[in-house]
Amino acid sequence: MKSFSQSALVVVAAMFGAAQANWGWAHLNGTDGLNTQSCGTVCADTPYKVALPTPLANPARCCASVTIAYNGINTQGTYTDICTSCPTVNNGVDGNITLSQALWDKLNTGSDDTVFLTWNV
Ligand SMILES: *[C@@H]1O[C@H](CO)[C@@H](O)[C@H](O)[C@H]1NC(C)=O
Ligand SMILES: *[C@@H]1O[C@H](CO)[C@@H](O)[C@H](O)[C@H]1NC(C)=O
Repeated sequence: MKSFSQSALVVVAAMFGAAQANWGWAHLNGTDGLNTQSCGTVCADTPYKVALPTPLANPARCCASVTIAYNGINTQGTYTDICTSCPTVNNGVDGNITLSQALWDKLNTGSDDTVFLTWNV
């Protein structure tokens, strides 16, 4: 049983490795100084929207699902917007993102106005 759970952990670790999660700080859409624009396509209507930094914006992925992990919460949104004012680091691999109010609310951030999370599109 012990060796089973250890190999299960290895499998889980490999899955997270393969997910190539990006990291960054998330802000609530509408925060002062943040600017977003459409990623180029009108996506299916959803309250769970994500704006990704300009250097990461790939028009081919517009409307793709974005997986977000924060503080034990795993959820998904839709890449609907480019965040033209969100900085990136690590040559554009990681960067800050902007979330719609409904998606932000799912993270139970309390009084924090920005939270560090991982995201993957
Ligand atoms: C991202 O957001 C955080 C929190 O607002 C900020 O301190 C940081 O400078 C921003 N930029 C990067 C590249 O993390
Ligand atoms: C942010 O708000 C603007 C204005 O309401 C909206 O057009 C845009 O789709 C929103 N983006 C996100 C990621 O919530």
